Amino acid sequence: MEGEFKVLKISSSHEIEKKQTEMLVIPVCEDSESSHPDSLANIIQQALSLKEFKGAENEAVVFFAPLGLKAKQVMFAGIGKKDSIDEETFRKACGSAIKKCIQKEVQEAIFIVPCASKLDLEPERMLSAMMEGAYLGNHQFDKYKKSKHPSLLKIEFAVSDELTDRFSGLAQKIKTICDGTILAREWVTIPSNLKRPEEFAGEVVKLAEKEGLKASVLDHKALKSNKFGALLAVSAGSASKPRVVILEHYPVTADKDKTLALAGKGVTFDSGGINLKPFDSLDGMKMDMAGAAAVAATMITAARLKLPVRLIAILPIVENMPSGSATRPGDIITSFSGKTIEIGNTDAEGRLILADAISYVIKNYTPHTIVDIATLTGACMVALGEKIAGLFSSDDQLAKTIFESGIRTCERCWKMPLPEDYKELLKSEIADIRNIGNSKYGGAIAAALFLSDFAENTRWAHIDIAGPAYIKKESPYCTAGGTGFGVRLLCDWIENWR
Ligand code: BES
Ligand code: ZN
Ligand code: ZN
Repeated sequence: MEGEFKVLKISSSHEIEKKQTEMLVIPVCEDSESSHPDSLANIIQQALSLKEFKGAENEAVVFFAPLGLKAKQVMFAGIGKKDSIDEETFRKACGSAIKKCIQKEVQEAIFIVPCASKLDLEPERMLSAMMEGAYLGNHQFDKYKKSKHPSLLKIEFAVSDELTDRFSGLAQKIKTICDGTILAREWVTIPSNLKRPEEFAGEVVKLAEKEGLKASVLDHKALKSNKFGALLAVSAGSASKPRVVILEHYPVTADKDKTLALAGKGVTFDSGGINLKPFDSLDGMKMDMAGAAAVAATMITAARLKLPVRLIAILPIVENMPSGSATRPGDIITSFSGKTIEIGNTDAEGRLILADAISYVIKNYTPHTIVDIATLTGACMVALGEKIAGLFSSDDQLAKTIFESGIRTCERCWKMPLPEDYKELLKSEIADIRNIGNSKYGGAIAAALFLSDFAENTRWAHIDIAGPAYIKKESPYCTAGGTGFGVRLLCDWIENWR
């Protein structure tokens, strides 16, 4: 399931006019003077003199065999007005440019990297964004298709001579992180019949072990003997047996007293169970394991990057199906923590499997901090739309660091409240807690409060990615399907963790 190897390379823009390449890509500003090598000034002017190209975002124009350049084709990619250009502008522009190259069946391209300071950007962040957009835009999910255009084999970024040494390691790092995103994307896009819990868990373990992570699996028998009552209530209706995967990354250099725990919701298909979803909501529910995919891919990436942080990950993986053996609305079950839960709705299953996962990690690993990521509620999409994740934490400092990683990676998170008095909503007359709130409003908050009850006093944050985990239509640097949302976010957060 892993993305293929594609070369990302940094080179010198010195005498760029003499470089042989199939495609030279030149980002062009709408209103500002060009910050490119002088040898390109003329040809950029020619492009800007066209009626159809002003350098606005999303605009692109291609010249064939241009005079004075060795490149076979030159693509001018508009990046808009100087004041509105940020890193995301470059991710999008480079992703779109690569997608055009794929359509043209171009096999390699060289991007001219503009002078960052002229755009008031930081050079490393700008170059990283360009490489991310291009590399992610080059990924296609075409393994089940006969007719396809190949992805590029080589993507180069030409920078001024003095920057080539400074950024020598950057391409490899960006490639590693984006390979993590691509891995998560593919897992999410793969249909449910090809990633039943046993199979998905096996694939995660195989790749994790290859990178030197310690991996263990709790199978159905072990889950029963360990009393994962909430998780087993969700899997009860499915012919596919559940799994819990645990991954450990314990670098010798890391602070032993500060273990970070990650938990990811892994519902390989969410039919809703006995509270069966309406037909239009069933579509796309193969993506309900995007949290687990993001966490597994983050762990694999952390191992590849040798990040000096102790990490433990837990992935509860189940299928939520209706059948004669399925859990019913109204049932009471006993969770791993010992708390009893009244099932108000079998479609609120993510919080059940995560509750057991969170309790298990806290009991066995006493982490310093735990972060869970989950496609948890449609209500979160109503609140924040399809591009921004909901961020919940009672620890403001923790929420702030995740929020900031969201800004840097443009995997955006918006902090939502966890009001104590809303816990009322989860009260049950006959059990310790109910799995849904008794109001039709505030569903994302109710779900987060339910989880907080199981995180107890451990420093905890919850990221609801129901919106941004999946797209039905392609975007500039993502194909339709899983977006891999969370991998770049969590990697950035772990990298900056102290
Ligand atoms: N997996 C869904 C949430 C979801 C919805 C993810 C749409 C992605 C897109 C979750 O398990 C669910 O069904 N939540 C219910 C909870 C409700 C029954 C309290 C919801 O949000 O409607
Ligand atoms: Zn559900
Ligand atoms: Zn779900």
